[in-house]
Amino acid sequence: RRRVSSERTPLVERAVAAYVGLAIGDALGATVEFMTPKEIRAHHGVHDQISGGGWLRLKPGQVTDDTTMALALGEAILAAGRVDALAIADAFDAWMRAKPVDIGNTVRRNLVAFRTSRNPQAPASEHDAGNGAAMRCLPVALACHGQPPETVISASRAQAHVTHHNALSDAACETLIFMVQDFLAGRSAHDVERQRLGPLVAAHPVFAWDRKHCENPGGYVVDTLRAVFQSFYATECFEDCLIDIVNRGGDADTTGAIAGMLAGARYGLAAIPRRWLRALDEVTRVRCEKQAEALIRLAESQ
Ligand code: AR6
Ligand code: MN
Repeated sequence: RRRVSSERTPLVERAVAAYVGLAIGDALGATVEFMTPKEIRAHHGVHDQISGGGWLRLKPGQVTDDTTMALALGEAILAAGRVDALAIADAFDAWMRAKPVDIGNTVRRNLVAFRTSRNPQAPASEHDAGNGAAMRCLPVALACHGQPPETVISASRAQAHVTHHNALSDAACETLIFMVQDFLAGRSAHDVERQRLGPLVAAHPVFAWDRKHCENPGGYVVDTLRAVFQSFYATECFEDCLIDIVNRGGDADTTGAIAGMLAGARYGLAAIPRRWLRALDEVTRVRCEKQAEALIRLAESQ
């Protein structure tokens, strides 16, 4: 019998909420990317509508590379039936050839190098701590749900190292993936903070956050995660978290995407405002929903 959406299991519901949350955060934040909080206040008051525009001149509801790279990654995982670095690198290369609306410098440089080398692992670099691997990590969290931690970590690094071979990026990706998996399993935000963020900050003290350092986060993965965690733990619903994070501007599509992923997994589909679900580009929304369902099916078949 065909499964209709109302028959989604709670796990699949949360996976869908994480994916749609990622896309909503990206679409909402892109409008104010590279702005300061002061500029946002002057132009929008409080920015809380998915309205397009921004420096990329997006259509209302249109997403950027944060979401489209995640979708490319998820498709490569589903086609291979597993997290395979070479399949992922080929998928990212095809994604780049299709002329995405935006692309990070580290992403572009290492994908161009892959075309010649055919090595799906970029050279390690201290300078490659941009947020480009972390922003797209969700499909790995879903595909590896229920797997042992060593398997999750090696899958995370396989996808991340295609473009970002860096210890801080790895720590960020792995922490986000475990957090999503914890929320899919119904764990509390408090437990997740204690079990995931405590060890992250102990291993890499640069990730410790307080409000004054997180006002206008740039594309450095450490700044991105500090802002997201600060916002995520200072708010109590999906809507407040996303409005809080994107109104800090800076790399707002990416902080929005990562916060939307975590908040979607934490609060579930029913907590996502209807106006944002309706405003999100429909083709993108359906792709995110279907991919979330398929990745959980893959995880359950392992
Ligand atoms: N210390 C401080 N800053 C750093 C470090 C470091 N070790 N390493 C990198 N940065 P980019 P991406 C800064 O363009 O990761 C998309 O459009 C670096 O100076 O390489 O390829 C998404 O929406 C630079 O400012 O990003 C994302 O915004 C930044 O980190 C973005 O591109 C990385 O920028 C992700 O792609
Ligand atoms: Mn960005």
